Amino acid sequence: MSDQNESIHGIWTSRWVFILAATGSAVGLGNIWKFPYITGENGGGAFVLIYLVCIVLIGIPILMVETMLGRRGRKSPINAMSHLIAEAKARPWWKIIGYSGTLAGFLILSYYSVIAGWALYYGIGMVQGQFAGLGAIEVQAVFDGLVASPYTLLAYHTLFMVMTMGVLARGVNKGIGKAVSFLMPCLFILLAILLAYSFSTGRMMDAAEFMFSFDVSKLSKDSILVAMGHAFFTLSLGMGAIMVYGAYMPQNASIASTALTVGFFDTLVALIAGLCIFPIVYKFNLDMSSSDAGLLFRTLPIAFAQMEAGMFFGAVFFLLVTFAAWSSAISLIEPVVAWLVESGHSRVKASIVSGVLCWFVGIGTLLSFNEWSGIEYQLQGKTFFAWIEYITANFMLPLGGVFMAIFAGWVMKDTKVMKELKMESEAMYVVFRVIIRIVAPIAVLVVIVNALK
Ligand code: PHE
Repeated sequence: MSDQNESIHGIWTSRWVFILAATGSAVGLGNIWKFPYITGENGGGAFVLIYLVCIVLIGIPILMVETMLGRRGRKSPINAMSHLIAEAKARPWWKIIGYSGTLAGFLILSYYSVIAGWALYYGIGMVQGQFAGLGAIEVQAVFDGLVASPYTLLAYHTLFMVMTMGVLARGVNKGIGKAVSFLMPCLFILLAILLAYSFSTGRMMDAAEFMFSFDVSKLSKDSILVAMGHAFFTLSLGMGAIMVYGAYMPQNASIASTALTVGFFDTLVALIAGLCIFPIVYKFNLDMSSSDAGLLFRTLPIAFAQMEAGMFFGAVFFLLVTFAAWSSAISLIEPVVAWLVESGHSRVKASIVSGVLCWFVGIGTLLSFNEWSGIEYQLQGKTFFAWIEYITANFMLPLGGVFMAIFAGWVMKDTKVMKELKMESEAMYVVFRVIIRIVAPIAVLVVIVNALK
């Protein structure tokens, strides 16, 4: 089998479109919604440091592996794996990487779309000035009212899903490439506006101290687990999103430097999101440790309701969250769409079918907040939503990532990996190999074992 320079879906018009698309996939609810609240829950600085170590030591090498597998396979994760397995004359059960990854993306999108729907709801509400002047209790009642209403949730979940599938139906360059080329610059501008506001609160130093002062005593075994799991989620690793984007990457682009760029931007956005949100939390004396997953939707809007021009900044903020979620959502289900296209369906049909199915599964998540929240609907104390979140984040992504690393490190021929990566420094390549063969698998195993305890 010879090296392929093309994919039937097309090739990004430049290396930069890949960087924008992969950064668009990586930067999402994970950075803006999840990272700030888990940092709050885990005591700040020490947690941030562990998360950074995980990104550099495990995340970026696996990001390189995934891009490499995708570009060498040049197809959807399911078919790319079949191609690579044939090339390496490996056992057929390695195909599980493609199937489980594709399923994981589909499952994540089913709930991701519901949460992104909240951001849409808040964004529109802010534009209409709905929150202006409300007190803390009233703002929180808005959130409680939203999640209690299945029909409102359904409307926004549907809208977000239509936005996502609309992009995918238009194809790789005209759809995804165009969307990210617009969304990503907007995202950086919106982030800059918010950062400027947060500076003006005068509480930036408190926020920076919270995020960067290293206090070992706050570090628990659990924090390490959470930090590591988040490194996978935030870099979109282990499920094929990066693999499928890698399949559309020009042959001459350097994978190592591209992966570094994507990892850098993703981390930058997470840290800036923290530096936007924490000063507001401090300035308005909001309670961050007890607000957990509701920090963004239940707590932060209290500040927007009270600050000057709060509806403007609130609208900017939730537009930012929506854009970030949008560019992640398209990557979550592109592995399914690409696979259906390779099976002979048109892109439009593939997008509609996968979108409708995913939308349907998402109904289970939106009911988890109301009709199905009762104990009689729960399994082992977890709702439908909590189960999907738990299984995908704790098992499917880390296991997917580690199997990819093992496949590239132990099964594929060294020369093929080296050729595809085109790494200039021999020493760097040795470090990379030790990480993907030994360090990453062991580290991830520890995560899984701990999650099972
Ligand atoms: N990385 C995205 C985020 O941080 C989520 C995601 C996970 C997207 C896996 C694609 C694949 O929100």
